[in-house]
Amino acid sequence: MKLPQELEHAIEQEFTHISLKTLAHATKYLREEYRTQGNNANTDAERLTAYAAYRMPGTFAAITHVLTELQRRHPDWVPARLLDVGAGPGTALWATTKIWPSLNSITCIENSPVMIALGKHLTTHASNATIQNASWVHANMRNTTPSDSYDLVIISYALSELPEKARNQVIQNYFEHTTHSLCIIEPAKSPRGSRVIEEARAKLVRLGAHIIAPIPKSFTYTLPEGQWLHFAERVERTHLERVVKKAFRPYEDEKFSYVIASRSEGTSYAARVILPPQTNRGYITLTLCAKEGIQKIVVTKKRHPKAYRLAKKLQWGDTLDAHNPLLALITN
Ligand SMILES: C[S@@+](CC[C@H](N)C(=O)[O-])C[C@H]1O[C@@H](n2cnc3c(N)ncnc32)[C@H](O)[C@@H]1O
Repeated sequence: MKLPQELEHAIEQEFTHISLKTLAHATKYLREEYRTQGNNANTDAERLTAYAAYRMPGTFAAITHVLTELQRRHPDWVPARLLDVGAGPGTALWATTKIWPSLNSITCIENSPVMIALGKHLTTHASNATIQNASWVHANMRNTTPSDSYDLVIISYALSELPEKARNQVIQNYFEHTTHSLCIIEPAKSPRGSRVIEEARAKLVRLGAHIIAPIPKSFTYTLPEGQWLHFAERVERTHLERVVKKAFRPYEDEKFSYVIASRSEGTSYAARVILPPQTNRGYITLTLCAKEGIQKIVVTKKRHPKAYRLAKKLQWGDTLDAHNPLLALITN
């Protein structure tokens, strides 16, 4: 996945007045601060701007993955109004308009004036009028009750910055103002983000939502010890990232967990690939989450040539519909 050119250009512009040394130092320092404190609340404005803009390609990729899944589950639906909660630099508004260019209103709730300034500044580079006209509300998501309802509400990489009790209240409050779908996304390099998503999913089930991805509420599953439910999206590194990280690889894998809750059922599926497929000489091992729980299937080229060809095309996070011949290989 690659950033839209306009956004990549907008981010590069942010760094024209920051030396690469400052940026490299800021990213190292802020990564550590985020890891230990769960937020960057005490950081100075220049460093925060640098880090936020620098992180955008990864979060953009995660949000785009989730919205693409939402579009698959509700192929005939087109949102008109977006609410981005804990919007940061506005990553979600860029991702949403890429998928649904006809979106006609965007509201961003954010409590950091530095983030709002960065977000607004980035939008000046957009050609899409809805992005340019996004409305930025300086508020704490915990005690803001939206005055309106929105077709699509996104809380991305922000929920885990709140304590558990507040998270449940925020989910309830914003789901009440969602007319169609709510997407919650968390970083998942470690199990922490996945745990926040599990809790959010449980809360949304109690609120009567349809969990349309990644795992419907009718599937029961327990992951093996040491594993957590997450997915990854490969992001092409920008020139800037390669220089700052002194990275040889032209890409990185953004790991994330998510839940999509809708007011109505989406298109159904029988299973989802929940780990990267393991390809060996002559066989592929797939780990699926299906109605019956977690299922490991081994697809051999010799014994199951047709299924093997299908398995070869599957990627981590893909779904299998009820007629997929691979399902016949589930043994329990
Ligand atoms: C890691 S950033 C993610 C930004 C953006 N959603 C994204 O995915 O790129 C988390 C953002 O949530 C904001 N935030 C944290 N707690 C908040 C609160 N109580 N109310 C509003 N915004 C909050 C932070 O200021 C920060 O900009």
